[in-house]
Amino acid sequence: MSTNKSLLILPGDGIGPEVMDQVVRVADWFGRERAVKFDLDDGICGGAALDAEGTAMPDAVMAKAKASDAVMFGAVGGPKWDANPFHLKPEQGLLRLRKELDLFANLRPALCFEALAEASSLKADLVSGLDIVIVRELTGGVYFGEPRGIETLADGSRKGVDTQLYTTPEIHRIARVAFELARKRRNLVHSSEKSNVMHTGVLWREEVTAVHEAEYADVELRHILSDNCAMQLVRAPKQFDVIVTDNLFGDMLSDVAAMLTGSLGMLPSASLGAEDPATGKRHALYEPVHGSAPDIAGQGVANPLACILSFAMALRYSFDLGDEADMLEAAVAGVLAKGLRTADLAQANTSRVSTAEMGDAVLRGLEQAAG
Ligand code: IPM
Ligand code: MG
Repeated sequence: MSTNKSLLILPGDGIGPEVMDQVVRVADWFGRERAVKFDLDDGICGGAALDAEGTAMPDAVMAKAKASDAVMFGAVGGPKWDANPFHLKPEQGLLRLRKELDLFANLRPALCFEALAEASSLKADLVSGLDIVIVRELTGGVYFGEPRGIETLADGSRKGVDTQLYTTPEIHRIARVAFELARKRRNLVHSSEKSNVMHTGVLWREEVTAVHEAEYADVELRHILSDNCAMQLVRAPKQFDVIVTDNLFGDMLSDVAAMLTGSLGMLPSASLGAEDPATGKRHALYEPVHGSAPDIAGQGVANPLACILSFAMALRYSFDLGDEADMLEAAVAGVLAKGLRTADLAQANTSRVSTAEMGDAVLRGLEQAAG
């Protein structure tokens, strides 16, 4: 356990740096107390990088990301850059990372901590015990399909085009991730698309079915249209286990799922590449699902738990440190059970804490678990 593990920290914009500070404290703790040493490096991206270097993902940072075992990503974007042309938007930094590291599999767990069942906008009994994972395809679909752009027509009116496009290998590999995951869970996959109106939806349904029949007949597969899936997520979310879906529907459904857990501030994610057959390694990026929240940035009130839970996913998926991941997740659950809450989750009978105080509390939880 003494070999160092390289971790690139990209805090980004808005609340990204504040929440990432708490992750660095947690990583340091594991280095000190558990001899799990991380080689931490950092870099700029998003709006910060646009300001400093004129690009949301400088080549040097991209090279560091390719060379590291895992990337911890905060959040990007803010009003300062909202009016920028498309290629100069902070989000392009994240999209370049996803594309060039080929991070096609985005795992977004929505797990309702018992102490937060009351904080959900749904009735507590609907979300209590909720544990679902959205498997979102992340490097294809309308996010990257060509042609795309805005053009001015002869009559002076304008036309905007985006292209939704999927190929069988793209669908097969994300389907396999979902089926493999389901086998370790409750063995149920819902595949979500709009096969009633979209050709890519028809292809998605047929190809997921083909992979299922050929390789995963032991897993239960159900198809669900994405609009219905959104509705069912807020009606009866516990009917789901794993939901596999495309890039755009996954973006939306994962925001819906996030809110079931009480706060966007609670939802971590992992974006994984394909395993290199020679080394067994895969590129990976871990990020909270929440955005840069410019309205509360710099105030020290942001919830660091989604970012800390993303680090727990890094421990589990990139560093094979399942015990440490369990420990960290238990520390987070413990802090919530004690009634400590950042502003996004504050309710009557809870104690409001700052970002750093939440970090302190998680570290205390780890100390206690370590004895
Ligand atoms: C997400 C975000 C991103 C996306 C943005 C920041 C590009 O909403 O990760 O869910 O749309 O994928
Ligand atoms: Mg999103």
